[in-house]
Amino acid sequence: MENLIALVNRLQRACTALGDHGEESALPTLWDALPSIAVVGGQSSGKSSVLESIVGKDFLPRGSGIVTRRPLVLQLHRIDEGREYAEFGHLPRKKYTDFAAVVKEIADETDRETGRSKQISAVPIYLSIYSPNVVNLTLIDLPGLTKVAVEGQSENIVMDIENMVRSYIEKPNCIILAVSPANQDLATSDAIKISREVDPKGERTFGVLTKIDLMDKGTDAVDILEGRAYKLQFPWIGVVNRSQADINKKVDMIAARRRERDYFSETPEYNHLAQRMGSEHLGKVLSRHLEAVIKSRIPSLQSLINKTIIDLETELSRLGRPIATDAGGKLYMIMEICRVFDGIFKEHLDGVRPGGDKI
Ligand code: GDP
Ligand code: NA
Ligand code: MG
Repeated sequence: MENLIALVNRLQRACTALGDHGEESALPTLWDALPSIAVVGGQSSGKSSVLESIVGKDFLPRGSGIVTRRPLVLQLHRIDEGREYAEFGHLPRKKYTDFAAVVKEIADETDRETGRSKQISAVPIYLSIYSPNVVNLTLIDLPGLTKVAVEGQSENIVMDIENMVRSYIEKPNCIILAVSPANQDLATSDAIKISREVDPKGERTFGVLTKIDLMDKGTDAVDILEGRAYKLQFPWIGVVNRSQADINKKVDMIAARRRERDYFSETPEYNHLAQRMGSEHLGKVLSRHLEAVIKSRIPSLQSLINKTIIDLETELSRLGRPIATDAGGKLYMIMEICRVFDGIFKEHLDGVRPGGDKI
């Protein structure tokens, strides 16, 4: 049976295919109801590094300043064997096996929407990665929070970024990956500040502490990692990503993951926490959590899908048949997709009832 996360991924893509008709149809509601994980944090807190470590691949444009200027919806699909490849939502059927080309296309596609200015856009870029080395997971990379506008940006950019980030994470179905660097005071963390605003009890926030290797000598992150400094419902996860020097030296991801594991098991302060630290562990925890959340939402997703089908039918009959316009064609397609999902969800529900956890 198809994996639940993969199913929701397909539904998300189907919703986006509607694009320009978002306003008037029921699909934005459906999109909001689908669980997702959004990565938030200040600029240079290590968000891109965390994402790349989870994927185990270099695929994100990087540099100082604001590099991520559009949300990137990253859908990871685990495949049993074969060569890993990537595919963009805006370039269906083009398979990328060269990840340097993926980096370039993300940058180019960002510019296509925003111009070459340093402005931001809320229109997401969809990227799917198929690999034997990933867990099934959907992550949304958001622009980094900043405190000041730089040369070439409008003064509003600070608030614009904050509002865009908030518009994603305020949705109750959004799981927040809040990235804070260990070499700065947690009290000043942009990630904590904004996630506390929308999730005050920490019920859907995962705290990730980066740059543990860069802390001042004589200090450690044990208080944070054990949940005493800022309490969240889920345990904090510490990571050690590649430094800029490592990146310049082209230290590969396999070596970086190994070094990260060694760091936690060989540092006396963290040795007792080693089992629940690191990027690989983070990826597994998030995948398990996302799957559990989706499972628990199946009944409500199903009734929403049914409602969507009815709404789309109404909209289609308003447009009139036969459907000549592109718009009608799209709506029709989405409705068909919803029907397919309705069927699959029913199957899952039937599977889950007798045994309890058979999905
Ligand atoms: P983003 O702006 O939040 O996406 O941050 P990046 O992932 O681009 O990281 C910013 C800089 O910090 C880069 O030079 C990274 O190499 C470095 N960096 C990120 N995480 C760590 C870490 O855990 N340890 C060290 N030493 N450097 C890190
Ligand atoms: Na950056
Ligand atoms: Mg980044």
